[in-house]
Amino acid sequence: MLLTKASITGLAKCHHLSEREILILLGFITDKDYTSLFFGDNFQLTEVEFQRLLEYIERRTQGEPISKIIQRKEFYGITFKTCGDTLDPRPETELIVDLFMKYFSDKAGHYEILDLGAGTGCIGLSILKHYEAARCLFVDIDTKALNMAQYNASALSLDHRSSFQESDWFTAISGEYDAIVANPPYIAADYDLPREVLFDPRIALVAGGNGMAAHLAILSNAHLFLKKNGRLFLEIGYDQRAKIEALNNSLEIMEIAQDINGIDRALVFLRNLW
Ligand SMILES: C[S@@+](CC[C@H](N)C(=O)[O-])C[C@H]1O[C@@H](n2cnc3c(N)ncnc32)[C@H](O)[C@@H]1O
Repeated sequence: MLLTKASITGLAKCHHLSEREILILLGFITDKDYTSLFFGDNFQLTEVEFQRLLEYIERRTQGEPISKIIQRKEFYGITFKTCGDTLDPRPETELIVDLFMKYFSDKAGHYEILDLGAGTGCIGLSILKHYEAARCLFVDIDTKALNMAQYNASALSLDHRSSFQESDWFTAISGEYDAIVANPPYIAADYDLPREVLFDPRIALVAGGNGMAAHLAILSNAHLFLKKNGRLFLEIGYDQRAKIEALNNSLEIMEIAQDINGIDRALVFLRNLW
C-alpha cells in the first residue's frame, strides 16, 4: 500500500492529528530517522505495517504522547530510547546540563559524576557526550529504568565511561564525586496529574512527604558523597524553592536558575564546609 502526501493529509484530518505526527509514526514503522522525514515523502507499507499505523493513530488520539508510542525522545540534541518504565526526558531538565557546563568549564576534566534517579540516563549521558574524560555512575531504584540508561550509554558509545548501580538514592553508593546531578520525583501524591503525564511511570513523578521526600533524602546525604568544592545540581518543582532552601543545611546554595518560563527549576549547591 502506497501512502502519498494526499493520503497522509487525509489520515491526519480524519483523526485530528497533525501531518507531522503521522509522518513520525510512519518513520517509526518503516525504521527511518523521524527527524529527517519531509512532508511529501511517499511510504510503501505492507498490510501489517498499515495496521500498526492505525493502531498507533488510535493510541495517539487517546492522548498517549507520540514519544511514548515511538519510544524515543530528544534531549540536549540527542535521541534517547525510552520505555514504559522511564520518564520521557523533559526540555526543562536540559537546564541541569547547562548549569553543569557553567560550573565545570574544563571539557577535558576527569570529572566523576553521579546521576541520581537516572531514568533514560539523559542528564549524565548528555554531559559525558560533551566531556571526553568524565565518568558517570548512573543510579536508579528501578532495574528496568537502569537497563534503559545502560542501553542508551551503549547506543551513544559512552558505555566505557559509564557504570550502573541499582540503589534507593545513596543507600548502595560509595565514593566521592565532583558533581551529583538529579531530577528526582517531586509531585505530591494528591496532585491531579494531566492526562499525558499518566503514561510516565508514577515512581518517576510522585514523591511522598507532599512531593518533598526525594529531595529530603538527597539533600540530607549529598554532602557525604561530594568532594570538597563538589556541586549538586538539583531540579525542583515550580513551588518548591522555599521548602528546599529551608531543608538544606549542609551545602551552600550557589545559584537558583529559572526555566524558559521563568519558573525556579534548578538549584546549584556547593560542598564547602569541610
Ligand atoms: C523524574 S525521573 C528523572 C529521570 C531522568 N533523570 C530525567 O531527568 O529524565 C526520576 C527517576 O528517579 C527514580 N527514582 C525514584 N525513586 C527513587 C529512589 N528512591 N532511588 C533512586 N531512584 C529513584 C525513578 O525511577 C526515575 O527514573
